[in-house]
Amino acid sequence: MKVLVVGAGAREHALALALSRDPSVTSLAVAPGNPGTAQVAENLPVDPMDPAAVASLATGFDLVVVGPEAPLVAGVADAVRDKGIPVFGPSRRAAQIEGSKSFAKDVMAAAGVPTAAADTCSTAAEAIAALRKRPAPYVVKADGLAAGKGVLVTEDVTAAEGFARDVLSAAGATVVVEDFLDGPEVSLFAITDGTTVLPMLPAQDHKRVGDDDTGPNTGGMGAYTPLPWLHTGDVDEITTRVLQPVVDEMRRRGTPFVGLLYGGLAMTSAGPSVVEFNCRFGDPETQSVLALLDSPLGEVLLKAATGELKGTTLAWKPGASVTVVVAAENYPGTPAAGDRIELGQLPAGVEVLHAGTRDADGGLVSAGGRVLSVTSVGESLQEAREKAYAGVAQVTLRGGFSRTDIGARAVRGEITIPARRSDQ
Ligand code: GLY
Repeated sequence: MKVLVVGAGAREHALALALSRDPSVTSLAVAPGNPGTAQVAENLPVDPMDPAAVASLATGFDLVVVGPEAPLVAGVADAVRDKGIPVFGPSRRAAQIEGSKSFAKDVMAAAGVPTAAADTCSTAAEAIAALRKRPAPYVVKADGLAAGKGVLVTEDVTAAEGFARDVLSAAGATVVVEDFLDGPEVSLFAITDGTTVLPMLPAQDHKRVGDDDTGPNTGGMGAYTPLPWLHTGDVDEITTRVLQPVVDEMRRRGTPFVGLLYGGLAMTSAGPSVVEFNCRFGDPETQSVLALLDSPLGEVLLKAATGELKGTTLAWKPGASVTVVVAAENYPGTPAAGDRIELGQLPAGVEVLHAGTRDADGGLVSAGGRVLSVTSVGESLQEAREKAYAGVAQVTLRGGFSRTDIGARAVRGEITIPARRSDQ
């Protein structure tokens, strides 16, 4: 099978690596890719935001896997599907589950899926009223795509109002103000063909830039899987109460969701509740989830793309995986670029996945905020943490930095789910 992956980040590098391990994948390309994907696939130049260009490039491939959300929201999967080529990724209309927070709330309401109560506001006055009727902490979300940075969670109502005003200053913008959900967060990815829902291993992202969850939100500074603090049955409950009803509702609306449905959930005292949906694999969780996948990824994604997922199961390697992001100086502000990257000898069981890198003068230099993902597999979460940080120690990048506490609270047993209220 000839597979084309669309995208250029560490998630796409992880997808390419996992696909390259599938014996049914005989030819693999990434468009446009990065210096890391070039080590496992052929990089092909394309503007991933141009549906016609991607569809033209896809001719001759047996499967196209679209990584990032922006091309999906722009209709890249539709253009490929219209040419009769199987594509793993939702249509433009189905991608609205991520592209519009208010659309996602509407789908959840129709599907009876638990989520935070919310107000959609198109003026600053509406946003201020929605904030003032709630207790802290305040949650304000830009309604459209914002590369993981369109959310503010703060105790400071003035900061919340300022953020809402900033977002609303763009023509036609809306914000969603919602109740804060208390409880540890889970990222649960499900592969779906629009009917069957196949959950993957649950993971946890670390969204704030600094240790102990301090500083601004980022695209994600690190992740680990599986989650030792999650209860047996939680993944089944999330699948049954959240993911399957949403997939069913999308099909009922005539916009079946085919691809990767990413449920971002808080495990509250009332049970799992949705913080957000994304319409694609999460970054950096995917780097760890795929590191533990023991099934042929290409075969599974092709089954999803062709409506044949029913009866498919996933096998997982034992142990745990930790991903630590190496970010450029000043990320998530205006990250430094063009700094030389040197990689030393990596420990066994560690992969360095490229995101913001480019080749220059025979070497590698930084070219983005999140530069590398260092992903490990270990027998335990503790061992995976140690290996990942041993890998990070082999990265030299002027001004580069990482969080030092990825997975640490889970290793120390400090994460607990609030006791379930008896009325749930
Ligand atoms: N890990 C956060 C995201 O992919 O949006």
